[in-house]
Amino acid sequence: MRSTQPQTIYLSEYRVPEYLIDDVDLRFSLFEDGARVHSTLTVRRNPEAKGTAGPLTLDGDSLTLEAVALDGQTLAGDAYEDTGDQLIIPRVPERFSLEVVTWIEPQNNTRLEGLYKSSGMFCTQCEAEGFRCITFYPDRPDVMARFRTRIEADKSRYPVLLSNGNDVERGDLADGRHFVTWEDPFPKPCYLFALVAGDLVEKRDGFRTQSGRDIDLRMYVEPRNADKCDHALDSLKRAMRWDEEVYGREYDLDIFMIVAVDDFNMGAMENKGLNIFNSSCVLASQDTATDATFQRIEAIVAHEYFHNWSGNRVTCRDWFQLSLKEGFTVFRDSEFSADMGSPTVKRIEDVTLLRTAQFAEDAGPMAHPVRPASYMEISNFYTLTIYEKGAEVVRMIRNLLGAEGFRKGSDLYFERHDGQAVTTDDFVRAMEDATGRDLGQFRLWYEQAGTPVLAVTDEYDEARGVYRLSIEQRIPDTPGQSHKKPQHIPFALGLLGEGGEPLPLRLDPEEAHAPTERVLELTEARHTFEFHGVSARPVPSLLRHFSAPVRVQYAWSREQLLFLVRHDPDGFNRWDAGQRLAVDVIQSLVVAGPDAPVEPALVTAFRELLTSTTLDQALVSKMLQLPSEAYLIELAEAADVTAIHKAREQVLRQLATELRDELLAVYQRNRQSGDYAVTPEAVARRSLANTALAWLLTINDDEGRALAEAQFRQADNMTDRMGALRALVHSDQAEARTAALDAFYQRYQDDPQVVEMWFAVQASSHANGLDAIQALMQHPAFDWKNPNKVRSVIGVFAGQNLARFHEADGSGYRFLAEQVMRLDDSNPQIAARLVTPLTRWRKFAPGHSSGMRSALERIRDKSGLSRDVYEVVHKSLAD
Ligand code: TRP
Ligand code: ZN
Repeated sequence: MRSTQPQTIYLSEYRVPEYLIDDVDLRFSLFEDGARVHSTLTVRRNPEAKGTAGPLTLDGDSLTLEAVALDGQTLAGDAYEDTGDQLIIPRVPERFSLEVVTWIEPQNNTRLEGLYKSSGMFCTQCEAEGFRCITFYPDRPDVMARFRTRIEADKSRYPVLLSNGNDVERGDLADGRHFVTWEDPFPKPCYLFALVAGDLVEKRDGFRTQSGRDIDLRMYVEPRNADKCDHALDSLKRAMRWDEEVYGREYDLDIFMIVAVDDFNMGAMENKGLNIFNSSCVLASQDTATDATFQRIEAIVAHEYFHNWSGNRVTCRDWFQLSLKEGFTVFRDSEFSADMGSPTVKRIEDVTLLRTAQFAEDAGPMAHPVRPASYMEISNFYTLTIYEKGAEVVRMIRNLLGAEGFRKGSDLYFERHDGQAVTTDDFVRAMEDATGRDLGQFRLWYEQAGTPVLAVTDEYDEARGVYRLSIEQRIPDTPGQSHKKPQHIPFALGLLGEGGEPLPLRLDPEEAHAPTERVLELTEARHTFEFHGVSARPVPSLLRHFSAPVRVQYAWSREQLLFLVRHDPDGFNRWDAGQRLAVDVIQSLVVAGPDAPVEPALVTAFRELLTSTTLDQALVSKMLQLPSEAYLIELAEAADVTAIHKAREQVLRQLATELRDELLAVYQRNRQSGDYAVTPEAVARRSLANTALAWLLTINDDEGRALAEAQFRQADNMTDRMGALRALVHSDQAEARTAALDAFYQRYQDDPQVVEMWFAVQASSHANGLDAIQALMQHPAFDWKNPNKVRSVIGVFAGQNLARFHEADGSGYRFLAEQVMRLDDSNPQIAARLVTPLTRWRKFAPGHSSGMRSALERIRDKSGLSRDVYEVVHKSLAD
């Protein structure tokens, strides 16, 4: 427990480490009542450190110190100081070895940082600052050392003992114990250290690299999951091949291991040679995982693998540079997924997440730059801004330099900085040096928070045949930042003629072969562009492919949007026009009330989508999804959640009523027989059929319900079974809903990942209010210690079941505050993430915002608040 106020850490106060570690020798003795950690560090003073030599200071957290020895001499109690979070040794030589013995209690570790137990196995999570929960160490990424790790444990309980690198020695010991020693030849920061000990089955596979080296691929899971490894291993091999082909990056160790653990704070972790995954992000079978899960696994396996170069070989100097590895790696995994499936669909999914959640973050009290200037608790900065906006920033660099220039830049970056801990600025400099391009102004993307707004206006001069486009950029104030400078924004656009044909974009009247798409580079607060030889007023297709993470404001008419839905050759913008049309229609119902008529143009657009057989069906399946409530709230001024929910439901029901026959036809046409495969075509067909089913159930269609029940019973894959279950659970059909939920639980109760989906589908349903949520928390399968269960019930309720969470009496807010306070004692990282919905209190209509605010105040007043929750709550309440 903390007694003083948490400190803020500033990038400007960065200093090189005073001492460096060359080698770390760790010896773990694992027992049921704790673990002893023997650490021997080879230390030397950093030649780059300025001034006279200061004390050696090592970080520690929740450690019991048993002994300290310097160059073999045990230190007396007055030769060092153990402050609780630091071990300080005032006088040390230039070079020395330091032995530290600590005792820790993994079995009582509920924070899931450092060494802990998950379903009977030992595992670690050291990023960002978990290594200090294992032993005293300079826990910062710019201290890189070679690790040798000996693990000793009971052989029958823990036959598998893993750590980073290669296993170099193993043997049996007295009392039924055994040991394995691992050696990792690559120097690494301690956040990449990992250890696993358990009774696991091993699935083996192999990969031959481009230079002909054979890599051992090994996946370790609990015996009951032995049949759920194939997809992850296949994904891994595809990722390894892709990184060779697209980035020229080959794997470096002889072994690559993946472990699945049930209790994990995040998705997965890229520990050197030993990636550890949340079970829900790695285990899959046709019967237990949906298409979305299969795709998520492929992306996350690739993400962690890609970190081996973007993160591990080249790592971060300090945690302010987090996006150096995360933004770049998300960009890499996103391009990989695009190449493995449908690029347009992948882009739509990424942009949906960005616009719904990252834009909201960027407009809220926790807004921060891609390279933050300060933080209190680094765990709070694993954000959508660092990951998703960071990836967009890298994407813009790629688009500005072109694929070839970007590859030169990444080659130079990896070559120049291999084995180093560097900054986002080093990344940008490598891109500049490899191509000669000046990214000076572009660097503002790393420094300025907030989502730029582009106000676009246009004029058509019929007499001169000139179309004039003016673009003004404005970057909103964010906490601690105002009066921002204009940023360098790549703005892709096209113009469509009367018949929908792409027009040549002549910036120069004489230009003979003008392209039909251009990327305008905005660098000033305001630009005007003139396009010549335009014979009729065109319809602009703006910010194609979402060429920059900005908001575009332009006064589209509904006719223009419908025109773009029909004609835009850019699939992304075609989808976007449909979204804008739907947003506009829903927003007008928010104002006019849900009984007002629904715009016929929207019905027309959807009818055309449902009946078209020539359009890319994967794109159609995305175009049929109405904008989410969360996105509509993000777009609103003072969001009235109930009105938004009602308006959206009304549009959905109206569309379903008018298009009933088309929906039935789409359902029948896309029902599949034959083998299950996760190809873009098959995924699109399942998605179309399941969307049609869900829509039919919103109007209580008898035929629709019968189809859903039949599909639920007969499905041979989880996508279809879950599609039917979701449609039933989100309908008014109480009896059918209960019957399906019971049957589903009976069938899958022994599979934690499926039970999590079962929780989530209920927690997200408007049919379930707070009482139902509390009942789910009483269910025997609910477990406070398991982050996935907490997320799938409480997190989903507050993040997806918006109308019920925002119930007018404020009960949802009080409920969330209580759960946050309860969790804060056991798992502060998860507690801090759970607060997120409340932090947006300023976005909502007064009736909502005051209740949200008092919920935050209740949390603030709890004594002994963790630093994690303290930071989020205090920043949210600050004016
Ligand atoms: N580096 C991990 C990734 O690939 C993130 C991560 C995993 C993490 N576990 C964590 C971050 C625990 C903080 C705490 O994105
Ligand atoms: Zn990552």
